[in-house]
Amino acid sequence: MTISTGARIPLSLPYIDSLEEELVLEVLRSGRLSLGAMVTRFEEELARNVSARHAAAVSSGTAGLHLCTRLAEVGPGDEVITSPFSFVASANCVLYEGATPVFADIDPHTLNLDPAAVAAAVTDKTRAIVAVDIFGYPCEIDALLEICDRHGLAFIEDACEALGAEYKGQPVGSQGHLAVFAFYPNKQITTGEGGIVVTGDEDQWRLLKSLSNQGRADSGGWLEHARFGYNYRLSDLAAAVGAAQLVRLEEILALRASAAARYAELLASVEGVEPPLADDDHHVRSWFVYPVRLPADVDRERIIATLAESGVETSRYLPSIHLQPYMRERFGFREGMFPVSEEASKRLLALPFYSSIDAGDQERVVDTLRRALG
Ligand SMILES: Cc1ncc(COP(=O)(O)O)c(C=O)c1O
Repeated sequence: MTISTGARIPLSLPYIDSLEEELVLEVLRSGRLSLGAMVTRFEEELARNVSARHAAAVSSGTAGLHLCTRLAEVGPGDEVITSPFSFVASANCVLYEGATPVFADIDPHTLNLDPAAVAAAVTDKTRAIVAVDIFGYPCEIDALLEICDRHGLAFIEDACEALGAEYKGQPVGSQGHLAVFAFYPNKQITTGEGGIVVTGDEDQWRLLKSLSNQGRADSGGWLEHARFGYNYRLSDLAAAVGAAQLVRLEEILALRASAAARYAELLASVEGVEPPLADDDHHVRSWFVYPVRLPADVDRERIIATLAESGVETSRYLPSIHLQPYMRERFGFREGMFPVSEEASKRLLALPFYSSIDAGDQERVVDTLRRALG
């Protein structure tokens, strides 16, 4: 199935084929649109793909992160350390439970939490760490787990952007702690809206299934609620799209990796523009977006405008969370508090990136960028 965008090169596009249509039709014809077999199939396939013991599908990545902070039993007066260089949900999930997000600055190369900054931010109120695999690059799981062990903290991995990434040769999500993947249409795979929480612990999984289903327990009737819960269910229609996408996960990841390699090649001749950090022995990125670092003396707004005039969509990925208006108002955060994150927020620019991106369009993007910089 071809999605037509005309001469415009969008920032992102889902990669949908006939299998998605078939499985959605199968669900429609089954009459079982929620709490059915397709959700189970999606959960089992996802768990298999990331070598996780258990997976609980939810209505969004944000919902998944919220359930994780609920499982960590954080509440008013507690602090949770997270990255300022992320999407707001990784801090909002802390606020939902009335706890306080505490930011630690990031490493300038990986753009993920700097374990030394995390260790320095631990207080006697700290209860958990929400670590993000930003732009699909795995965070320093071992160093962060060591901090958690030392201080008795819960560890939650926001892997919303990282389906298919690997840390020390193992899939992100296989390490046994709580990790969350997300499936908004700009992600590696989509369910329209949706997310999933993986864990190595069966009791945690049962609790996740219950909390996402209004607190119902395995035993007990439809109107019996063992605990206070939420409607964070993923429908079987959405799960059908996800199950079809998973069949092609390897192909999708390979397409994205080769599109990223093509950009790196094209950008090698554009002076001053830095591509995303390359993989190493311990970190294999799953390509989610393609953010480049512009030279410090370049006016990013002018570049964005020039690219937009040529039909090339870009995005300022990502604004630092602590400088969002509601965060400044509530906690008094100001510029200069997390300088590495702020510098990345000022200089990074995400270029159009999706599984089906055309090589000729990538050349057009890079040529336009080169002209804009010149
Ligand atoms: C790092 C990160 N965390 C959390 C989320 C939230 O996922 P969702 O949009 O599915 O709620 C996203 C998705 O945009 C994300 O990129």
